[in-house]
Amino acid sequence: MRYRRIGIIGAGVVGKAIFDAITRAGLADVEYILVSENFEAPADAPQLRSRITTDANRALAAPTDLVIEAAHPDVVSRFGAQLLAKGDLCAFSSSALADQATETAMLLAARRAGTRLLVPHGAVLALDGISDGRDAIEDVTITTTKSGASLGTRADARGTLFDGSTRDVCALFPRNVNVHAAIAISGIGFDRTRSVVMADPDTTEMRHRIQVSGRGFEWDISVRSTALGGVSGAYTPKSAAGSVQRILGLHPVATC
Ligand SMILES: NC(=O)c1ccc[n+]([C@@H]2O[C@H](COP(=O)([O-])OP(=O)(O)OC[C@H]3O[C@@H](n4cnc5c(N)ncnc54)[C@H](O)[C@@H]3O)[C@@H](O)[C@H]2O)c1
Repeated sequence: MRYRRIGIIGAGVVGKAIFDAITRAGLADVEYILVSENFEAPADAPQLRSRITTDANRALAAPTDLVIEAAHPDVVSRFGAQLLAKGDLCAFSSSALADQATETAMLLAARRAGTRLLVPHGAVLALDGISDGRDAIEDVTITTTKSGASLGTRADARGTLFDGSTRDVCALFPRNVNVHAAIAISGIGFDRTRSVVMADPDTTEMRHRIQVSGRGFEWDISVRSTALGGVSGAYTPKSAAGSVQRILGLHPVATC
């Protein structure tokens, strides 16, 4: 599918990287960038500023064949099914799908409209391998370690804050465990994937460890990224730009 008209929701660390990747390529038009009321557009980005809107109804009525969300899981819960009813949706805030009603509504809308939900790998790696191996995978554990401040809890928090299903962790740390949701969606689902969240007050990194075992194979993948101040780490803007380039078919050599 060649996308011509794209909507972006969110213009923070991830949204800006997505906008830059699309406009650099010049192969698709960005119809709008929907942001929250308190968003302050950077003065040195006139192209981005010119597309900014806070009017969700106007934005979502715009003719688009792809919307890329990089805002908040609430946005996916609220607008996901509506967006999939008219085009493809790439959702970075995939923790919203841990809510069964949201997931059902979105997948039904996509099936009816013949559209697709695209789940980017974001801050981690290996969604492709997990997806390919899902029938043979027996256990998946993803452990995230961040500072309490980055997790939205006490800055001096230390140790294990959560150990349980990915479905349950998404309700507790919705903005910090999108990678858990992406791993669960690609693999063995929200209920069978085990999520661990650890706080380390001394770290400026975001660490994700993904342990997978299945019939005849075992993977142990560690990803470390310097925190950029909010919920995203230094690797995520690169990853987001790469995902957009793959979605738009811009790589002369495609990995598959
Ligand atoms: N899947 C992943 O690996 C991954 C990695 C990093 C971030 N994320 C998620 O992507 C999203 C964006 O991350 P970020 O670091 O760019 O965040 P950010 O805080 O830098 O930017 C958030 C942007 O979303 C906008 N926004 C927030 N609520 C909104 C609403 N209700 N309606 C419209 N716009 C709204 C804000 O105005 C802002 O422009 C977050 O949900 C984050 O959890 C996912």
